[in-house]
Amino acid sequence: MKNVGVFGLGTYVPEKVFTNHDFEKILDTSDEWITEMTGIKERRFAEGMETSDMAYEAAVEAIDNSGVAAEDIDLVIVATSTGDQQFPTVATMLQQKLGLRPVPTMDQLAACTGFIYGMVTGAQFIQTGTYKHVLVVGADKLSKITDFNDRSTAVLFGDGAGAVVLGEVEEEFGIKSFDLGSDGSGSDYLYDERDTGTLRMNGREVFKFAVRQMGESSVIVTEKAGLTKADIDMLVPHQANIRIMNAARERMEMPPERMSSTIDKYGNTSAASIPLSIHHELKNDRIKSGDNLILVGFGGGLTWGSICMTWGVK
Ligand code: UT7
Repeated sequence: MKNVGVFGLGTYVPEKVFTNHDFEKILDTSDEWITEMTGIKERRFAEGMETSDMAYEAAVEAIDNSGVAAEDIDLVIVATSTGDQQFPTVATMLQQKLGLRPVPTMDQLAACTGFIYGMVTGAQFIQTGTYKHVLVVGADKLSKITDFNDRSTAVLFGDGAGAVVLGEVEEEFGIKSFDLGSDGSGSDYLYDERDTGTLRMNGREVFKFAVRQMGESSVIVTEKAGLTKADIDMLVPHQANIRIMNAARERMEMPPERMSSTIDKYGNTSAASIPLSIHHELKNDRIKSGDNLILVGFGGGLTWGSICMTWGVK
């Protein structure tokens, strides 16, 4: 089996910043409550842009950074819960915008866990030698399905996109292990309402699930990779709530400086939150070649997933 790693990464966040103070003007809420309960200070909202537009911006940057020519992309996977339309898929739109060959394309829906599901799916095709380069994008425009009258959910979400180009890497690098799962008995804890199309959530139940599952899954991939908790250089959790992220970190017995946190800037960007966070850490030289990372997420479904990987290509 071939080793699969990230050749290049790209991200996009919309320009419009919406702060907690902006929410104070339209909802019965406060900067203090939002900051204390979630860690969020501001988020970005896409205006005049759809999910495929954000996906495109992130994908162009990822392809540029990868050194792989666009015509050498063999498969496109887009993880999203907020496609431009029911169909065609965002992945097909992206293929067209990027001018790729008529390669296979697919959207994958695992809500906020989507990026992990997408990376693991893409990696299988490279591991088996079926394809050489897979573009995986996590993009969501949560503002499109947010009920801005519901203070318990409206303050949580933001829009954004992140993308990676996956390819074969030297043996010491790349994905070492993964863990994916879902539990449909939690399907009514987080969903988009059929009549209104807006997001509904039982925050307490999702919180309890996330605290348990993110820690558990991180431990599982560490062990599967033959590593110990002390070997992990950086935990990159789905950015849903700083309290949930810290619980996973504590389960991994890692200090705060070894966890990526961008939730204050972007809120919960669903399938985009993990690549946005990796990008932030790379930019600040906090992830380097050879570092062992855990990417871990959870989301509607309920779903969860994690990847243990060594950053770098050769
Ligand atoms: O990607 C997955 C997405 N989902 C999540 O990650 C969400 C997981 N859940 C959470 O993060 C937490 O449940 C929340 C941060 C959403 C809420 O925290 P909580 O401790 O579960 O609070 P709660 O919903 O039980 O609400 C506590 C109080 C309530 O007031 P009363 O009934 O105690 O008077 C709410 O009405 O806080 C109130 N409240 C707010 N107050 C000010 C709820 N939302 C707000 C708000 N501003 N935005």
